[in-house]
Amino acid sequence: MRKLIAANWKMHGHAEWINKPAEFDKLYPYNERQNLEILICPPFTLISEMRDITRQNNISLGAQNCHEEARGAYTGEISPEMLAHAGAQYVILGHSERRAMGESNADIMRKAKAARRPSLIPIICVGESLEIRELGEATEFVLEQIKNSVPEHIGDYVLAYEPIWAIGTGRVPQIEDIEQMHGRIRELVGPDVRVLYGGSVKPANAEEILSVENVDGVLIGGASLEMDSLMAIAKAAA
Ligand code: PGA
Repeated sequence: MRKLIAANWKMHGHAEWINKPAEFDKLYPYNERQNLEILICPPFTLISEMRDITRQNNISLGAQNCHEEARGAYTGEISPEMLAHAGAQYVILGHSERRAMGESNADIMRKAKAARRPSLIPIICVGESLEIRELGEATEFVLEQIKNSVPEHIGDYVLAYEPIWAIGTGRVPQIEDIEQMHGRIRELVGPDVRVLYGGSVKPANAEEILSVENVDGVLIGGASLEMDSLMAIAKAAA
C-alpha cells in the first residue's frame, strides 16, 4: 500500500516558507516515490494559496475540518465543496482537538459523508484517552469509535489512530501496542483502507513506527512545521 505522510499544521501559518520552492525542493525525491504520498493540511486560508506549489511538487493538499452542508446560513463554516474548489483533496475529520470542542461520532459521520460529495478523501481520526488506556479498554473504545464515525459505503477514506495522550506530549505507545491496535483496526476496516498512526511522530521514531505491520503512514502535528523534519519523516517512509 502507498504510505501516506500527512502533515496537520493546525493553526500555524508558515508565511515564511509556503511560497518558497526551495523549501519544497527539500522533499524531493521523496515526493516522487511511487510508494509514498506526502500530504499537507494547512489552515483554510492557505489552501488556495498553496494549490500551485503543492501540485508542482507532487504533494497532496487537505483541510482540517469541514461543515456537512454544501451552503447555507452557517456563519464561520466552510463546506466540502468550497474546500474542493480551493484545491483540497483531503479533509481531516474528528481530530481529538475537535472532538474536545464537542464534535460527536455522529457529527463526524455526517461530515465524512458530506466530504465525499465533491470527492474529498476524509481522514477520520480516532483514539483513546489515557484513562481509557489505563483501564485496558483502549481497543474496544477505538473500534466503537470507528463503527460510529465511519459511514457505510463511504468509498475512499483514511483512518488515523491517534491516542489522545500521545498528541503533542512526546509520549508514544509501545510499539507492540501500536501493532496490536492497528491489527484490530485492520480486521475491522479491511485491506484497502490506509491506517495512519498519529501522536508525537518525530524524525527519531518515524522509521520504527512506519515499519510496524498495518501502519500505512503517519499523521504529524508539531514535527510537520519544519520542512527539515517533515522531510526526515518522509525519508524514513521511503
Ligand atoms: P503531534 O500531533 O504530532 O504534535 O503529536 C499529532 C496530531 O495532532 O495529529
